Amino acid sequence: MKQDMIVILDMGSTENTVIAREIRDMGVYSEIHPHDITAEELKKLDNVKGIILNGGKNRIVDGASVEIHPDLYDCGIPMMAVDHPTAKCDQKLDKLPDEKVLRQFVFNTCQADPNWNMKNFIEDQVELIKRQVGEKKVLLALSGGVDSSVVAALLLKAIGDQLVCVHVNHGLMRKNESESVIEVFRNQLHANLIYVDATERFLTKLENVADPEQKRKIIGSEFIRVFEEEARKLDGIEFLGQGTIYPDIIESGTKTAKMVKSHHNVGGLPEDLQFDLVEPLKQLFKDEVRACGVELGLPHKMVYRQPFPGPGLGVRCLGAITRDRLTAVREADAILREEFEKAGLDKKVWQYFTVVPDFKSVGVRNNARTFEYMVIIRAINTIDAMSATIEKVDWDILQKITERILTEVENVNRVCYDMSPKPPATIEFE
Ligand code: XMP
Repeated sequence: MKQDMIVILDMGSTENTVIAREIRDMGVYSEIHPHDITAEELKKLDNVKGIILNGGKNRIVDGASVEIHPDLYDCGIPMMAVDHPTAKCDQKLDKLPDEKVLRQFVFNTCQADPNWNMKNFIEDQVELIKRQVGEKKVLLALSGGVDSSVVAALLLKAIGDQLVCVHVNHGLMRKNESESVIEVFRNQLHANLIYVDATERFLTKLENVADPEQKRKIIGSEFIRVFEEEARKLDGIEFLGQGTIYPDIIESGTKTAKMVKSHHNVGGLPEDLQFDLVEPLKQLFKDEVRACGVELGLPHKMVYRQPFPGPGLGVRCLGAITRDRLTAVREADAILREEFEKAGLDKKVWQYFTVVPDFKSVGVRNNARTFEYMVIIRAINTIDAMSATIEKVDWDILQKITERILTEVENVNRVCYDMSPKPPATIEFE
């Protein structure tokens, strides 16, 4: 079944995604498209029940007016202009349409059916994936993150054995992370999973590399190299599964932001390894991806886990990575996560982790001088990761975590709590 859709035309408003979300929350599927879409392209989208022009029909952006294609007015699909005062986009005069007005338009004017839910979405995608892939094979880099896990589960449901997952352990994973990917996907879901332990290879490449950007680049390019080597060993792969989600697509369309850090995700495979992409989550917002994962039966822990950067603990073991500090950051992180879970903070705090700097400080243990590392705890809340505030963690909880780190983690004699918001700090240290 194909779900009814309301299309929002992007006239440069910053509120498009909020409106799309609001309509989806009403149970009606909604997508954002460029303002210059033609009537023909719109018809191809199938089941479009209404069009919303967000930003008025003659919006001025940076002095130029943004007009929609004239055929759209005669294509027989109801249209609503959310009129704002004409404004330059940096003047922030955007205002959302009233929910009542929006409901009236969606349900009364457009007669859209509220048939957007995860069950229908999965049913549709399974059909689409089967149609796209046929009898061929799909390769997927399964990191164990939310997006790649949900794609894996969805592809598995659609094509079973034709899916080949590759999990590369770069040696910078959190405690038991690779083990849980193997447990869930190989042992429980019986997926075709190739596990590559590339720890030694990554740590050797990273030896004595202290510059954060260089570390990120090495981890990113080595990851692609390992994945490529595995891909070349396999026969008959024609598709590459990817966990692209809606914000990735929206952001890459309008990105003007300056690069602060080079983020790492799989991509950039060599040209002779040409695959067609299968991206079944590319229309979903993050919380919808999670809902999809739950519907597919993935463990709650996997679907609701906090964000974890692609370069992993590599950017939390500061400066040149050493094995003793990598172990320290991993063990301290496991303790922090365990205690946050016990206190129910895992459901409240957006992201929390530990960091180990590359210098030592003086301490005393059993009446003898020590010279050891420190662990820094960071716990932050944010909506979009662009800015963040720190969590005011209860003193007793911090004390308990500190005691455990100081007794259970080797080579550590000091624990600090990072009080810095973003900006001026970033969430990660590197
Ligand atoms: P920063 O440190 O830039 O982090 O304030 C913002 C958010 O992005 C996460 N992060 C990454 N995520 N690949 C990712 O997928 C990366 O390379 C990467 N680096 C940072 C970070 O954990 C935080 O949630």
